[in-house]
Amino acid sequence: MCLTFGEIVIARDLKDFRLGNALAMNEREVVGVDDGFVMADFGSDFRWGTAVAAFQVEGAVNADGRAASIWDTFTKKKGRIKNSDHADTACDFYTNYESDLDLVRELGFEHFRFSISWSRILPKGTGEINQAGIDFYNRLIDKCLQLGIEPWITVYHWDLPQALEDRGGWKNREIVAWFNEYARLCATEFGDRVKNWIVLNEPMAVAGLGYTTGQHAPGKKGIWNFLPVAHHLALCQAEGGRVVREHVPGAYIGTAVSCSFIEAFSQSQKDIKAAKRADAIMNRFFIEPLLGMGYPFDAFPFLKNIKKYMREGDQERLKFDFDFIGLQNYFSVVVRHSYFAPVLWLKEVSAKERNVPSTVMGWEVNPDGMYKILKQFADYEDLRDIILTENGAAFVDVCTDDGVSDKSRLMYFKEHLSAILKAKKEGVTVKGYLAWSLIDNFEWAEGYTPRFGLVHVDFKTQKRTVKDSGKWFANFLKK
Ligand code: GAL
Repeated sequence: MCLTFGEIVIARDLKDFRLGNALAMNEREVVGVDDGFVMADFGSDFRWGTAVAAFQVEGAVNADGRAASIWDTFTKKKGRIKNSDHADTACDFYTNYESDLDLVRELGFEHFRFSISWSRILPKGTGEINQAGIDFYNRLIDKCLQLGIEPWITVYHWDLPQALEDRGGWKNREIVAWFNEYARLCATEFGDRVKNWIVLNEPMAVAGLGYTTGQHAPGKKGIWNFLPVAHHLALCQAEGGRVVREHVPGAYIGTAVSCSFIEAFSQSQKDIKAAKRADAIMNRFFIEPLLGMGYPFDAFPFLKNIKKYMREGDQERLKFDFDFIGLQNYFSVVVRHSYFAPVLWLKEVSAKERNVPSTVMGWEVNPDGMYKILKQFADYEDLRDIILTENGAAFVDVCTDDGVSDKSRLMYFKEHLSAILKAKKEGVTVKGYLAWSLIDNFEWAEGYTPRFGLVHVDFKTQKRTVKDSGKWFANFLKK
């Protein structure tokens, strides 16, 4: 996956798959390395959890009245998904949710994040409710509570009902009303038992990959889609916050944004400016309007074109006082100026070109980048708690009769937790960590090749095997 504007490629491209580099990471010495921290260092109120998303795990795409989402349509199109993989069955979480929740407990986590499939509960996106869909999430929530696991709901994790895409999807401003109705239904049905809420998952991926580069569903292309889509997403993140606040007493409400520490390739003025533009898009775009600061026009004047889609009162509508911001960090990015990349005029200098360790996704492994991006967000005065709502890595796992060895992933987790602790000790208000992901799952346009799970999934048999990284968490989180 990659986020591109013209020729700029930002870091999400499996074309860059570097087995050599991934294996190099696997061979790094991890045995016997002192972690240098224990669970108690993070504080007794620190939330430890793991996460999944509906489309990536549930399967059962035609079961019990669920209708198609844009991802169902997209996965059926030729050449869109690696190896023509699809998510019709995925991890069959729809059937296996009880034993998967047992695994959450076995790994020591007390928090579990999942998303609601919009088209499972509102097949047409609005209007008629599918009770069987609501019942599934009720069973899931009740099972969490029975096991002593706190459920976290992501309201929107990329799977827009196809029926709404047929009406213009995220390009149509009516989506603010559609989203209001959907979020309201989630809040009123599940809010009696679920107190932790994440409104949107990574809106930049929706606007960038879904409607600008076309690498994600619904596969639309063009920079001019970006502006209305991004604005409607920004409106909906605040709208969703207000809806949940109104209907769920005592809710802890956030929204999740992707973020990456950006560095300029050189100290030239051009590269420094390019890094600022990348930072405006990748880090500042969705958080600053929420905080009442508006869109980051200063670093990227092109964004002023978004005003065409703004109506009177929108500056106010974009604001919401979230209890926490979910940060999702996987990698950092180095960029340089490029004359060949219209609009953003910059290009990523990949991990491969720089010969630094990377994952199967081609993403640079850089825990210090995570520390720096946490510090950068902590500089926003009005930002309250930070929850790391996603962090994790895909590497090549080694499966034997004795289990699944994933030294590189384990190392990745340890190094990133250590970076979080460093930031926390310096006063950054990180209040929780949700590891991505509980189980190997459908990794969007990359299909099933990259495995992010703490638990290995044999997609033929649906057999789960806890990886060494999962065992490490189980031990680390033991009280
Ligand atoms: C995030 C996304 C997840 C998962 C993860 C790993 O951007 O929210 O669904 O795919 O990346 O790539």
